[in-house]
Amino acid sequence: MDHKRILVTAALPYANGPVHIGHLAGCYLPADIYVRYQRAQKRDVQFVCGSDEHGVPITIRAMKEGITPQQVVDKYNTIIKDSFAEMGISFDIYSRTSNATHHATAQAFFKKLYDDGAFETKETEQYFDEEKKVFLADRYIVGTCPVCSNTNAYGDQCEKCGSTLSPEQLISPRSALSNAPLVKKPTTHWYFPLNKYEAFLKEWIVEGKKEEWKANVYGQCKSWLDSGLQPRAMTRDSNWGVPVPIDGADGKVLYVWFDAPIGYISATKELTPNWADYWQKEDTKLVHFIGKDNIVFHCIIFPAMLKAHGGFVLPDNVPANEFLNIEGEKVSTSRNWAVWVNEYLKDFPEQQDILRYVLCANAPETKDNDFTWKDFQTRNNSELVDKLGNYINRVMVLSHKLCAGKVPKWHESVADEQDKNLVEEIRLAKGKVENNIESYKFRDGLFEIIELSRKGNVYLQEKAPWKEASAIEKGVFNDEEKIKAQQRIDNCLYLALQLTANLAILSNPFIPFTAKKICSLVKVVDRILDWENAGKIDLLKMGYSLRPPELLFRKIEDSEIEAQMNKLKEGLVASVQAQELAKPEAPKLEDQMQELKPEISIDDFNKIDLRTGTIISAQKVEKADKLLQLEIDLGFEKRTVLSGIALHFSPEEIIGKQVVVVANLAARKMRGIESKGMIMMAENAEGKLEFVSPENIVNNGASVK
Ligand code: 2FM
Ligand code: ZN
Repeated sequence: MDHKRILVTAALPYANGPVHIGHLAGCYLPADIYVRYQRAQKRDVQFVCGSDEHGVPITIRAMKEGITPQQVVDKYNTIIKDSFAEMGISFDIYSRTSNATHHATAQAFFKKLYDDGAFETKETEQYFDEEKKVFLADRYIVGTCPVCSNTNAYGDQCEKCGSTLSPEQLISPRSALSNAPLVKKPTTHWYFPLNKYEAFLKEWIVEGKKEEWKANVYGQCKSWLDSGLQPRAMTRDSNWGVPVPIDGADGKVLYVWFDAPIGYISATKELTPNWADYWQKEDTKLVHFIGKDNIVFHCIIFPAMLKAHGGFVLPDNVPANEFLNIEGEKVSTSRNWAVWVNEYLKDFPEQQDILRYVLCANAPETKDNDFTWKDFQTRNNSELVDKLGNYINRVMVLSHKLCAGKVPKWHESVADEQDKNLVEEIRLAKGKVENNIESYKFRDGLFEIIELSRKGNVYLQEKAPWKEASAIEKGVFNDEEKIKAQQRIDNCLYLALQLTANLAILSNPFIPFTAKKICSLVKVVDRILDWENAGKIDLLKMGYSLRPPELLFRKIEDSEIEAQMNKLKEGLVASVQAQELAKPEAPKLEDQMQELKPEISIDDFNKIDLRTGTIISAQKVEKADKLLQLEIDLGFEKRTVLSGIALHFSPEEIIGKQVVVVANLAARKMRGIESKGMIMMAENAEGKLEFVSPENIVNNGASVK
């Protein structure tokens, strides 16, 4: 179908924390590239997003920070919005689901479904906090984990061992709000019978040729449909969210995944009085950019809701990316294992395009991918600096040296094969980048651009206009040859400059800050960036004057990468320490009857130098099941210590822990590794080990007496 307008949505981020680079790579950057390209094509496109301000994570965050949910969303909405704006994510509107338009829109949507009899009601027993008089979502229920005995596991997950739980599995469940023990009480909710939409969804997705969708997206949809859909509750007992707009639903709000996608509609309403065209006219192309954890909501639940309501278009595509890991490990916001966009912008001011470039070049388009700071440095230094930046700089320098800083004339009579080939490459590049963007293959699109700049460098190298110039200077040519040589120089720089302008147009969706700088170097207005100009070789007219050369990119130094690696590690250590400090006192163990060792004097004891230290890294030792190799920061030095605790602790869970070390113990070699010191542990009757740690964190290296 020929589409008349395009509506692009990017998943509404939860306003319960800043955004990290995984979010950017997952959906905001690809969405922005797509939209910038469509705008350059002069198509009618709108790009909507906003904060998802309801749901349990926000209320949990409010509890943790001791503020109201409204204060949480106000704080993070601003941080998130600013990060996006600074990164050049060019939404036409960035709204919020806590605003009045959204509440009214979501309520009207629910009411229509309710009036049409689309819901079923069901009464179930749920945990109730008698003290606070509220039903508790799984996240509000805490208790002891049946797997690892963590006393603060949540009703849906234990954050210590990662087990997925249900509240029923917790030992001694209690309310996270009041600490009170829980009772079960009946509650009624409105269920959306997804099972009734199975046939429609199968026809739309499976038979409707949606195998054009990305394999990961189609595959997930197919497996949901194959395993059969169940009715899903669309309301919750809570006082934070969109109130359920029917009588007798006091204390109930819409399920956050019911209201959030309607947020796309509300945002469009706020954006334009023509909002209905974008949602209700068949010739709209609706595209949802999301991360892979949102696939079922956008491909199954929301389309079924839209179908039940009637009158809305369904998404044409849902290009979901996989996840971006950091330095080989999954992003964990609770462990602060993430690269935060607002932090990046502080550490690398004005360097948005490096991050945009790296995240696109390494985007998790078909599988989970890894972000490493080393790769960030390498891609910047060897691709942006050495290929794209170097090419444009050479062209600018040569144009000033050999063509008086102006666009030279084109002389058809001396044009050769190499020139023709380059013209052809420029023409072809347009089609390649275009096809890749249209089919959501942004990595490949970006690759073509770097490839084109590489070809530009080869062209300059082969043509070597500086050699012609020096030959002219040395008087090697007769008059006629001299004219021809100057014409060949002109042609080379004429084409090189046209390629420069083309690089600005093609790279603009990906690295718009750089495209703008290129325009400024060749003194053209941004209008040249219209997509229809790509592939042309008469963009810069003869005689145009050029600005003096200026470097587009700078090298990233090793020290900057080390600083980022340290920041990551320190963030992890600090978060683990903070969690340790927040832990309630562990239950007292029974006294252990053990035979005491023979008496020693105070002098004997004083020989032992006990010091505090923090575990800054931990790893398993090959072929030694029980050993962990630890690096301990003793304040005055860092030490390697081997400890026989591998069966009790995983390396990840002990990083950041402050411990007591026997610091003057003679070094000992085990498995070829020298261990300098010993960690003090307490052992209970069952042989379970616990670290001996100061109750409050003290400085590392403090003596323990
Ligand atoms: O996963 C998330 O971050 C959700 N807040 C995404 C919502 S997308 C849409 F439906 F609003
Ligand atoms: Zn656990």
